Amino acid sequence: MHKDLKKVMFDEGQIAGLADSIAERINADYEGESLTAVVVLKGSLVFAADLIRRINADVRVDFMQASSYGVGTESSGVIKIKKDLESDISGENVLIIEDIVDSGRTLSLLKKELADRGAKSVKIAALLSKPARRVVDVEIEYIGAEIPDEFVVGYGLDFAERYRNLPYIGILKPEVYR
Ligand code: IMP
Ligand code: MG
Repeated sequence: MHKDLKKVMFDEGQIAGLADSIAERINADYEGESLTAVVVLKGSLVFAADLIRRINADVRVDFMQASSYGVGTESSGVIKIKKDLESDISGENVLIIEDIVDSGRTLSLLKKELADRGAKSVKIAALLSKPARRVVDVEIEYIGAEIPDEFVVGYGLDFAERYRNLPYIGILKPEVYR
């Protein structure tokens, strides 16, 4: 375990189990369909690499980097797109791949944005969710696991751009970010 971690929350085997269970549900729902996986940079890259290899449908992959700004509710939030998709998603089944859902602000706006572009369907697959932190009510169709309100890193998740390369997910020691 990395010295900056307090505890490992999901080891490699457990993460593989979460990816298996999400993929199983996706494979049941998209039988005979094709889909465009929208990988939300940067944190989702590791999970997306594992998830798409478990999907049986015909998959196209595209990338997006976005954040939310503005205060308060869903309607007053504005999405800031740092990197946009290359492809036109109108008429496509879009599967947004996200590492972790916290307030839900970014995903809520992103889901709306992609629906507004004429996607046939827009669903979300998130490896982790922190329900206690939710501010905006956004439907997440596929969730790997719900976790308590702890700051976690590894498997793509960072603190100040570090720890993305750890193959497991762990809780950061508070003294590291204080
Ligand atoms: P929100 O749901 O719009 O508030 O933002 C979710 C984003 O915040 C995620 O995609 C992560 O980039 C980041 N984030 C939230 N919680 C954590 C965490 O525990 N570790 C690392 N990044 C996190
Ligand atoms: Mg992220």
